Amino acid sequence: MAHDAGDANRRDFLMVASGAFLAVGGAAALWPLIDQMNPDAGAQALASIDVDVSSLAEGAAMTVMWRGKPVFIRHRTTAEIEAARTVSLDELPDGYARSAFADDDAPASDENRVKSGEEKWLVLIGICTHLGCIPKGQRLGDNRGEFKGWFCPCHGSHYDTSGRIRKGPAAENLPVPPYTFSGDARITIG
Ligand code: FES
Repeated sequence: MAHDAGDANRRDFLMVASGAFLAVGGAAALWPLIDQMNPDAGAQALASIDVDVSSLAEGAAMTVMWRGKPVFIRHRTTAEIEAARTVSLDELPDGYARSAFADDDAPASDENRVKSGEEKWLVLIGICTHLGCIPKGQRLGDNRGEFKGWFCPCHGSHYDTSGRIRKGPAAENLPVPPYTFSGDARITIG
């Protein structure tokens, strides 16, 4: 059973990776020109990516690749935000925010894991903090686990709608990478 789950996660990862290649195809065609003009531009392109989230409906999610890692972006519903905010912090196995824009010792409140005023957008590194599988929950119809966030079937870790570990062997919340909003529906990661 664990073997099947591993294969499924590997398939997911390959699909994400191939999708990312398609998405950057246009940019890749320009690469020799950019590289010639300014070598530093190459390093900058790898350091951050600009994602158009305008087509992402409420409740839906997308996965992009950033620095070789899958990044989950979920357009949360009001119910998902409320579920994340009403949970008592005492119930959280990992009490730390694990967010690039919160202090290292900041508590794992949902407020510390999203941008103020933009709480409908949750951005996470999509790698299970147990042994590194890619959790389920990005596609509608996926098993999102007991807390309706993400579920890692490899060994049974359940994450909530803020990407925090709630049950299972994973010890840490899914980390929040650095990101900013540029325009109405664009997120720059990195
Ligand atoms: S790798 Fe996710 S639960 Fe083990």
